[in-house]
Amino acid sequence: MSSDIRPETMERITTPELAGAFIDEQVEAIRSQVGDKKVLLALSGGVDSSVVAALLIRAIGDQLVCVHVNHGLLRKGEPEMVIKVFREELGANLIYVDAVDRFLDKLAGVEDPETKRKIIGAEFIDVFAEEAGKLEGIEFLGQGTIYPDITESKGVKAHHNVGGLPEDLKFELVEPVKLLYKDEVRVVGKELGLPDKMVYRQPFPGPGLGVRCTGAITRDRLEALREADAILREEIEKLDQVPWQYFITVPDLKSTGIKYVEGADGKEEGRRYMGWAAVIRAINTVDAVTAESVQLSWETLCTVRDRIVSEVEGINRVLWDYSNKPIATIEWE
Ligand code: XMP
Repeated sequence: MSSDIRPETMERITTPELAGAFIDEQVEAIRSQVGDKKVLLALSGGVDSSVVAALLIRAIGDQLVCVHVNHGLLRKGEPEMVIKVFREELGANLIYVDAVDRFLDKLAGVEDPETKRKIIGAEFIDVFAEEAGKLEGIEFLGQGTIYPDITESKGVKAHHNVGGLPEDLKFELVEPVKLLYKDEVRVVGKELGLPDKMVYRQPFPGPGLGVRCTGAITRDRLEALREADAILREEIEKLDQVPWQYFITVPDLKSTGIKYVEGADGKEEGRRYMGWAAVIRAINTVDAVTAESVQLSWETLCTVRDRIVSEVEGINRVLWDYSNKPIATIEWE
């Protein structure tokens, strides 16, 4: 279809007016490309696929079919937010697929990070292809490709990307934001009425919490990670300046803690037990190739620590990873 090269004359979309003009132009282009046919879109809830979904809804309404696959490795509240924004507020034709057991069963016992990534990627494609196979009359596939995906397709993202869609699904692509940079996609998303939580969302890896529940994923440790991560996000989002990326990792490692329980004589007594450690990471970067640890205040660190050890079952220790990249990578896996 249209060119993959951004014309030098193309103005950077920085204002609501420019975003509005882009939206009008794309709505026309999508309508003339798609006609009265249907478009299928894998909606992860990330910035790019969300903006493309909102654009397609504006252009073709319920000729768009969105599929949101819950692979069990999403952050707390994410599937609910996708359903609320797209189905309830934007009236999208949204299929929600609960594939949690499928993914976690396939991942059980798998320790190697790249094997985990491959399993998640392959399973995602299978689930999506199955859903596509149940639908009739789909001729187009919407995709949240953005300009850096085209220009850097041999770079970091390529080896990381598990979100790539089935090549054997022979659909014509609809990629309305493929010539935009991330900041422009956000301005367009805002103009389309998407909530800030979605538009200014921090980057989140395709394999999700899978790369933060190191080693073989177990459901109980994954749940502890999801809860601890929600606490960290809640506390960091209260700050005036929010780091580029911030999250919790719960490594496959246990250490001793003490639980106070009521003894036979009715008095409290301390019992030793083994629990996991939650590791805080907050970094700033421009392009994720190098990254600097962000200096969180002692107050924030203490609040997060106290909340995690008291609210999250199974975690008895909180650590702060203040390593820079290099030599540490941003994610633990
Ligand atoms: P690293 O850990 O390589 O991460 O320093 C750099 C950036 O990439 C993200 N990341 C991923 N994104 N799939 C993705 O879509 C992945 O498998 C993946 N692994 C890391 C990471 O969150 C950081 O922003």
